[in-house]
Order: sequence, then C-alpha cells, then structure tokens
Amino acid sequence: MKQNTPVFPPNFLWGAAIAANQAEGAWNVAGKGPSVADAIAHKSNLDLTDYSGHMALTDENIQDALNGTNDARYPKRRGIDFYHRYKEDLALFAEMGIKVLRVSIAWSRIFPAGEEAEPNEAGLQFYEDLFREMRKHNIEPLVTLSHYEMPLKLSEKYNGWVDRKVVDAFVHYSNACFDRYKDLVRYWLTFNEIDSIHRHPFTTAGIREEKCAPGQAVQDIYQGLHHQFVASALVTRDCHAKIPGSQVGCMLTKLTTYSRTCHPQDVEATLKKNLENYFYTDVQVKGEYPPLILRDLERRGIHLEMQPDDLAILRQHTVDFLSFSYYMSITESTQPDAERIPGNTVLGVKNPYLPASEWGWQIDPVGLKISLLELYDRYQKPLFIVENGLGAKDVVVEGQIHDDYRIDYFRSHFEQMQAAIDEGVDLLGFTSWGTIDIISAGTSQMSKRYGFIYVDQDDEGQGSLARLRKDSFYWYQQVIASNGSDLS
Ligand code: BG6
Repeated sequence: MKQNTPVFPPNFLWGAAIAANQAEGAWNVAGKGPSVADAIAHKSNLDLTDYSGHMALTDENIQDALNGTNDARYPKRRGIDFYHRYKEDLALFAEMGIKVLRVSIAWSRIFPAGEEAEPNEAGLQFYEDLFREMRKHNIEPLVTLSHYEMPLKLSEKYNGWVDRKVVDAFVHYSNACFDRYKDLVRYWLTFNEIDSIHRHPFTTAGIREEKCAPGQAVQDIYQGLHHQFVASALVTRDCHAKIPGSQVGCMLTKLTTYSRTCHPQDVEATLKKNLENYFYTDVQVKGEYPPLILRDLERRGIHLEMQPDDLAILRQHTVDFLSFSYYMSITESTQPDAERIPGNTVLGVKNPYLPASEWGWQIDPVGLKISLLELYDRYQKPLFIVENGLGAKDVVVEGQIHDDYRIDYFRSHFEQMQAAIDEGVDLLGFTSWGTIDIISAGTSQMSKRYGFIYVDQDDEGQGSLARLRKDSFYWYQQVIASNGSDLS
C-alpha cells in the first residue's frame, strides 16, 4: 500500500499575511501622514471587470485625504482597527499555530510626508511593539517595506516614483526600519507585487497618469519601475550590512499564462506574457535587465534614465529568495472575440476547464505547481508563497461560518505544493492571504473576505468589529500542527 508520507520540510514556515493599509485603520493617528491608500474611495455597483474603475481616483479624493475629510467613503482609513486590536488578533493567530506573519510597515507612519530628516517616534514604536508581541507568541515577522501605501505627499510632490528623489527617501526610510528592528526582524520584502506598477501605477508607485506629459505615461511608469529596482537593490545591500543573517526577498504577482489554443500565434502571445512576468524577477534575482525586454523598450521608444552605477548596483545586490502571490492563472488568445473574465487586476481569456470565484478569478491549483516548477527551474533560489487565498462572501449562521469552499481551495493548493516540493522545489514557506478578513485592495470591499477569522464589519463600515473563528480556522490549525500531513 502506498504510504502517504508528508513532504513538507520540518522547518516549513506556515503562516498568514496582511498589509498595513488594509488592516490597521488609525490612518491619521500618532503622527501618521496620509498614504496613497487613504485616497482610494469605495465605489459600489461597479462592473467587476473594471478594476481600474475601482482603483481610479480624482483630485477631490486626494484633497479628502490631505485634509482628512469624508472618512466614511474611504474604507482603508478604518481597516479592521488592527492598530488598536493587534494583541487580541495575534493571540488568535497564535492559537491557530502560525509560525510566520507577513505584515507591512506603513511608510507614512514613520515618515509622514516621506522626506523628513528624522522618523516619527510614535510610528517606529508601534511596529516595535507589534514585532515584540509577535515574538512573544513565537511568530516570525516577515515584513514588506512597501505594500501600496507610500506617503501621499511624495505622490503629490514628485508624481511618485517617477522622480529619482524618491529612491533616496525610500532608502532613508528603510534604513530607519533596519536600525530600529534589527534584533526583531530577519525576513524582509522590498516591494509588494512590483509588476503591478503597470496595472495600477497610483497605488503601487504614487504615479498619476494625468500628471504625466502627454503621451509620456508609459515612459514615466517604466522610469518609476527602474527607480524601484534600484531602490530595492540598495536596501537589500543595507539590510545585509546592518542585519547579519537577514534574508531579503522580491515579490511578484505570479500570473502564469496558458495559451488558449495551440495556434502558433496564440503560443507566441502567451510566451510574451510569461516573459513579461519574468522580467521583474529577472532583474531582482539575476541582477540584470533581460535583453529581449531591453530591445522591446527600445523598439517602443522608451528610454530609461540611469545613473552610471545603476546596472552595477542591480548586479551586486540581488535578493536571497523569491516570493510571490498566486491566486489564479490566466489564459491568452489572439482572437479578439475570445470571452474575457476578470482576475487579480487583469482581464484574461476565460479558461473553460477552470471554475471561478464569485469575483471571477479562475481557481487553478495545478497552476500553482506549474508556477513553482517554472520559477525554481529558472532561478534555483528558495521560493516563498506569500499570498494565496479565496475571496468569498461568508455567511454567519448562529455565530458560525461554514466556509468549506475556502478549505477546499487551500487543500487543493497545498496538495500541489506538496507535489512540487516532492519534485525538488525549495519552498521556504506559505503565508495565506489573509489571516483575518481585511479591506480588499482592489475593490475596497469588506465583503470580499479571505480570512480564517471573520470580522463583523460591512462595506459601509457598520458592525461591532468582533472576531469569529471560521471552520477554516480549525482546519488550518490542524494542517499546521501536522506540518501539512493532515489535509483532511
Ligand atoms: C494582492 C495584493 O494582489 O491581492 C493584496 O498584494 C490584495 O494587497 C490581494 O489584497 C487580493 O486582492 P483583493 O483585491 O481581492 O483584495
């Protein structure tokens, strides 16, 4: 009889993930400045295929954030009040058994306008307390320095990362974090989903396309991306110098793309999509721009302004591991009439073999295995899945939430992770998105829930904020306790 031996390594880092702007709330407390996330209003009744509509913003939104008005329209300003409730929440996470928690630092809590000479002590203290509390529960912090929450004032003043001065500001901010948390944090990520700069440049990099010169938006976005690559390499250097034994990772939205047919034109279009997705990790893991991408930029008339040392900096300070989010695969076709379906801020061609979430994201556990094999084969660096999960509407029945659909989602993905590890992939850990229900990044909804812990709050911010364990809470607890050998 075939033995069902567990294949997760003994030190596998089981955990969960959240982001400051989606969880903390307290957006203007203890000296925090407004961030780009605080300017994104919730819009009801929007077409699900129109993610750019959900994330769009107006001058009025910017003024609302700068002046602190109309809070009710801006869900990320309230989050789930993690800022005040983190002790209670960490105790629940510890009860679930998680070994690692991915959080982000809100840059504008530390440098409210992004460029002050001295950090805001209250902001530094908040994260010190948070990390100490994690350590008390034996939870390893995995910290993202930039997760869709740069100071709004940097966006206003410089059009975000388009300006090279933001590199200096980010390096200064990151060093303040390394100095303060060097004894508490070992695992760091630089930019969340760095590739998303092309899909939502404002939330990712503070870039407002309407502020770019006519016809210059794409050029400016690539320039902002180059600045982020350089900044990421510089802070990787500084982290290694200041925190011996630290591990720094890059972070990619893994958008594994399949060809809709075996027509060579579809296959070529698919290959190009996948090469585009690898571009970001090629720069951060291999330390150089891929030649095909450079040629493509040249053909499109895009010129990157570089300082003399930039390419050497990229080459010298590559990351220690590669982290990525994976929610779904997408499909490509050259047929203009192919049916399209929404995904994680992308529109893909519908794959007839896959089911979809209530938000249209196509569920594909085998795609996770394919992604792991592809990434490991290409880079041979340790991998870390730092986001994966199912956004769904949960129903509370007599205080209970029977979310079998979420358990099924995770089980099928864990089986594929096991298979990939078995086939030789070096996988450090897994942090689910998210531990607890938080505000959606893409739609600013509360009703799009990912957590193992339910939070009593609706899209309008009504509710007691009470926390309830879902069925998946107990299931994940058992998965972690058995190191992934009991997925039943
Ligand atoms: C990732 C982001 O792209 O997807 C998270 O890094 C986000 O911040 C997650 O929350 C899920 O997306 P959404 O739009 O459903 O919240």
